[in-house]
Amino acid sequence: MSGFWKGRRVLITGASGFLGAWLARPLVDGGAEVRGFDLTEGACLGVHGLADRVPITRGSVLEAAALERVIREHRTEVCFHLAGQSMIEGAAAGPLAALEVNVRGTWTVLEACRRAGTIRAVVCASSNHTYGPQTTAPFPEDAPLNQLDVYGASKACADVITRCFAHSFGLNAVAVRNVNSFGPGDPHTTHIVTGSILSLLRGEPPVIRSDGSPVKAYLHARDTMEAYALLAEHAGDPRVRGQAFNVTPAAPVSVLDLLRTLIKVSGRPVEPVVAASDLSQKGFFEHLSGEKLARVLGWRPRLTLEEGLRDTYAWYAKHGTGWIGG
Ligand SMILES: NC(=O)c1ccc[n+]([C@@H]2O[C@H](COP(=O)([O-])OP(=O)(O)OC[C@H]3O[C@@H](n4cnc5c(N)ncnc54)[C@H](O)[C@@H]3O)[C@@H](O)[C@H]2O)c1
Repeated sequence: MSGFWKGRRVLITGASGFLGAWLARPLVDGGAEVRGFDLTEGACLGVHGLADRVPITRGSVLEAAALERVIREHRTEVCFHLAGQSMIEGAAAGPLAALEVNVRGTWTVLEACRRAGTIRAVVCASSNHTYGPQTTAPFPEDAPLNQLDVYGASKACADVITRCFAHSFGLNAVAVRNVNSFGPGDPHTTHIVTGSILSLLRGEPPVIRSDGSPVKAYLHARDTMEAYALLAEHAGDPRVRGQAFNVTPAAPVSVLDLLRTLIKVSGRPVEPVVAASDLSQKGFFEHLSGEKLARVLGWRPRLTLEEGLRDTYAWYAKHGTGWIGG
């Protein structure tokens, strides 16, 4: 971490979630005064030993007055906005609530930041999932945002609104389109890496619901959140302000290859079961380009897929899932 964070006053919305906690870790280590804003206190900060180091103000990002209060009281200089509906299936099951929290929640956070007058950077979580089907690959940031399911549409709106606040009001706001993150302390046991590790630890082969063909990229949460921190540091740079950035490893993998690598690091003598019970993503191909972030800020992931999976598997082998909800 650079010296930028020493004494820096930071607010993370969604700090109780998986990535919020992974973001708090390097910021606290770098000397920042980190506060969270979240509906819940969750268990993720505890995974990082931060439950007492990162106070959470309980509230909703839909409550403008509560947000403004915490931003002002904390004299917040950097705001990371991660709170919202993070699950594709959850958004599909509750579209109005997902659109409200992901879209209205984003403009509410941005407007609170704008009004506070203390903010020098706002970094908002967009998503890889905004791209959807494309005609060429890898996808640069100016590729069309074609994903029209509820989650993808909500994140595309949040992405545009974030950039709008930079272009319209001069806020140093950045939208981050990070790929699927995995790592220790993921409470979402339906995520493919987490769920498959838990299957392996039960002595069961992981089950692939698709035919194994969908291609996506996966990144260890430590790498993902280091990119968020770096973007915040440089949010005032005209090459960064008002921009969207992909955060991705160089190459995506098929679900089948992902699980083969995971099984290899587990050392278990099993093969994944290809159930092919859900073929809705058959042939899906998602390959984001990481060229822009590498060129502008020199960011590259530090862990290979295999190293990241090894770290994650070892953590779950030691800690299991008892910490979730605790
Ligand atoms: N995890 C990934 O692989 C991934 C990939 C791309 C983008 N993202 C985005 O990154 C962000 C963080 O993802 P995550 O995996 O940590 O999600 P998460 O579900 O673990 O955490 C989200 C947090 O937001 C909080 N929250 C929900 N509604 C709220 C509200 N109205 N007010 C205040 N807090 C609220 C939840 O309590 C939770 O702690 C999300 O915006 C997600 O869409 C995640």
